[in-house]
Amino acid sequence: MSRFEKEIKKRRTFAIISHPDAGKTTITEKVLLFGHALQTAGTVKGKKSGQHAKSDWMEMEKERGISVTTSVMQFPYSDHLVNLLDTPGHEDFSEDTYRTLTAVDSCLMVIDCAKGVEARTIKLMDVTRMRDTPILTFMNKMDRDIRDPIELMDEVEDVLKIACSPVTWPIGMGKQFKGVYHLLRDEIILYQSGQGHTIQEEKVIKGLDNPELDSVLGEYASDLRDEIELVKGASHEFDLEMFLAGQLTPVFFGTALGNFGVDHMLDGLVEWAPAPLSRESDKGTVESTDEQFSGFVFKIQANMDPQHRDRVAFLRVCSGRYEQGMKMRHVRLGKDVRVSDALTFLAGDRTRVEEAYAGDIIGLHNHGTIQIGDTFAAGKDMRFTGIPNFAPELFRRIRLRDPLKAKQLNKGLIQLSEEGAVQVFRPLKNNDLIVGAVGVLQFDVVVHRLKAEYKVDAIYEPISVATARWVTAEDEIKLEQFRKKAFDNLALDGGDNLTYIAPTMVNLQLAQERYPEVEFHKTREH
Ligand code: G4P
Repeated sequence: MSRFEKEIKKRRTFAIISHPDAGKTTITEKVLLFGHALQTAGTVKGKKSGQHAKSDWMEMEKERGISVTTSVMQFPYSDHLVNLLDTPGHEDFSEDTYRTLTAVDSCLMVIDCAKGVEARTIKLMDVTRMRDTPILTFMNKMDRDIRDPIELMDEVEDVLKIACSPVTWPIGMGKQFKGVYHLLRDEIILYQSGQGHTIQEEKVIKGLDNPELDSVLGEYASDLRDEIELVKGASHEFDLEMFLAGQLTPVFFGTALGNFGVDHMLDGLVEWAPAPLSRESDKGTVESTDEQFSGFVFKIQANMDPQHRDRVAFLRVCSGRYEQGMKMRHVRLGKDVRVSDALTFLAGDRTRVEEAYAGDIIGLHNHGTIQIGDTFAAGKDMRFTGIPNFAPELFRRIRLRDPLKAKQLNKGLIQLSEEGAVQVFRPLKNNDLIVGAVGVLQFDVVVHRLKAEYKVDAIYEPISVATARWVTAEDEIKLEQFRKKAFDNLALDGGDNLTYIAPTMVNLQLAQERYPEVEFHKTREH
């Protein structure tokens, strides 16, 4: 294998999907600890603070003094190089969260074992299905009183329609949590509480039949043996093909806070999760091992700090090798650019990257010329497909305080929508401007940025819109008829695409039944 191939094969690029408070931040911290990107891990958030900052990363940076304003972290783990992409989850939940999931090769689903499958997780799993992304599962908070593990797995299977294959099985829970049995290694790994800040030295008992188990667990040892028999009989065996097809998830139990079990999951990730996968483009499939450089932009992040008004475009490398100072084509603009100052995110620090391979993320400085979905490629004109916009879930009418600034407002909103954080809809029937977002914080971000960057003072008003769908039809004439009949509900988005604005979900359903020749899309490709 050439060095080039080795570099690609050792990479794993993943993101975490979870409901707020399930433990994403805590797991990330432990993962970084194992990646030796952090020396010691403390408590992520002060217990009393009780509130989550705008970004988990900003919060972590503030409280922990570590530099992770970045959205991407790269760290070594067991001969591999892991890229973890942040998925904003609290108030900063946004379309970026969804789109990030289309830029990874696998996902870790984190479940709070006291709560089970929660709303946000269901939504995010839906997004991972667009690419049948392989999913690993971490059942968190075993140090608390939790629900029956078998019931939890059943719930995952029923609600998320994915088969569960336990790789580790918990021994007790809450104060009685003793560790896990690793079904594939036939080992008992014992839990020691109070060691969450460091990498623990593992206490391992080899073999379920080992008498050592009886001396440690007492009477419970034979119950455990029976339980494991039962679990083996009642659950799915691990199947790599099904995992890679997104149909089966290996399940790990542990406690992120106690730093127990996260490493078992990481071992599974590097062993089973795919190395950087191929991607589709308008010119056919691009293999990660293709020698010519290519990549696409999935996220644009503006710095909210007025002192540093830089915007960074996050590009996922899909093939070839990025080298500092190389030339690449900004395909949409048909322009060759020399990139000498891309950022990488090794161990949470923004540093200048010298080289990057498929699966890596590099940050390009963006002065307003880069949009979500843009392809950069060396020496060829092709565009990646499958980088979607997602239908917003929250809507507000935006209004100017100073009506003379209408032009600036329009321009600002369209530019901000090109960055992909919000979307703007202009109804056909009037001059309203409707802002649509996936997460509520984005509304504040938009008003803040309109003021700072476009000198526009805008306010929101409530509007009764439940959802939006992009509409298309094979038959131009049918689309024109629909345009006339549904005129009152139609709008153009920032890119002039026709959109159906539904005041209620029932209204949307009726419209879909009434106009079967029209397609209503939840996502729209760039
Ligand atoms: P998130 O990023 O998914 O939102 O979750 P985060 O890691 O911030 O964890 C949410 C809370 O759950 C934190 O509590 C964290 O310490 C706690 N937690 C995470 N993993 C475990 C675990 O394995 N066991 C236990 N017992 N707790 C865990 P907090 O912010 O300190 O307090 P609060 O938010 O519950 O008030």
